[in-house]
Amino acid sequence: MTELARLVQEAEQAFSGAADSASLENAKARFLGKGGALTEQLKALGQADPETKKTLGAAINAAKNQIEALLAQRRQAIADAELNERLSSEAIDVSLDGRGRGVGAIHPVIRTWRRVEEIFHSIGFDVADGPEIETDWMNFTALNNPENHPARSMQDTFYLEKKDETGLPLLLRTHTSPMQVRYARTHTPPIKVIAPGRTYRVDSDATHSPMFHQVEGLWIAEDISFADLKGVFVNFLHTFFETDQLQVRFRPSFFPFTEPSAEIDMRFESGPLRGRWLEIAGSGQVHPMVVKNFGLDPERYIGFAFGTGIERLTMLRYGIGDLRLFYENDLRFLRQFV
Ligand code: DAH
Repeated sequence: MTELARLVQEAEQAFSGAADSASLENAKARFLGKGGALTEQLKALGQADPETKKTLGAAINAAKNQIEALLAQRRQAIADAELNERLSSEAIDVSLDGRGRGVGAIHPVIRTWRRVEEIFHSIGFDVADGPEIETDWMNFTALNNPENHPARSMQDTFYLEKKDETGLPLLLRTHTSPMQVRYARTHTPPIKVIAPGRTYRVDSDATHSPMFHQVEGLWIAEDISFADLKGVFVNFLHTFFETDQLQVRFRPSFFPFTEPSAEIDMRFESGPLRGRWLEIAGSGQVHPMVVKNFGLDPERYIGFAFGTGIERLTMLRYGIGDLRLFYENDLRFLRQFV
């Protein structure tokens, strides 16, 4: 065997003995590097006579090509092996169950809000939205609560430092009733609207929260009577609670913005709450002073208003005992409404 053939064989053995690319590159240097065995041979060629140069030079080149081919082969094999190893160590088990994403749901209070809108919309009521930051005039005075009247203190609220143009501080609305005024002043009768939204009071216990939701109702035309109020509201309760098995009574009461005024009570004739009268809304025939503040002639226009609590409706519908559950965001509670 010639010297060159032996070198090729040695290179082949050295390459296949290299387990990774680093040792392969070391092995390469031994044969093809500057001081490598083949390079030495080429250097020695300088002293040879022209005839030998020709044949030996060709043989050295052939050996070099062979070794380079062997090197390329081994490089590829090592790269493949490394890739395979990475693939198998980083493998994803696609048969494993995913972690899953929770399914979101509508909060029970908002569910009721939407349901109330649907029911009133189906009998021709508009749905209106308005500001939660109100002026003193809209929240109290326009609704026939004279300044300094004790009825105001029943609705203590949060005041802002910012004042309105009359110099009175702005406040968080204590009820949705100012929406009666806002809506009536910008629409012409017949006016038939509900206004659901957030309201605020300085109150906090099992049945009161500083922020809560109400829905206001207003129907004003030339001939709207208390009988219409009864018809609309009783029908609403039957639809909302999905039962005719409930009684409704109108109990005389007082609100500055209605005259006469009534509180609306209801009583289930079946189910867990059967037999107990439950307060559900305030209502009445809109006071002539308020109709005037709507910008309308009280001699011509008449109608009713009502206001009810959205949390209250939700608690009765689902049998929830503590109002605070709505605001704690405890998923164990909320999941029941998915
Ligand atoms: N705004 C009253 C409250 O928050 C509820 C109310 C009573 C609204 C009578 C009305 C009404 O529209 O006519 O206590």
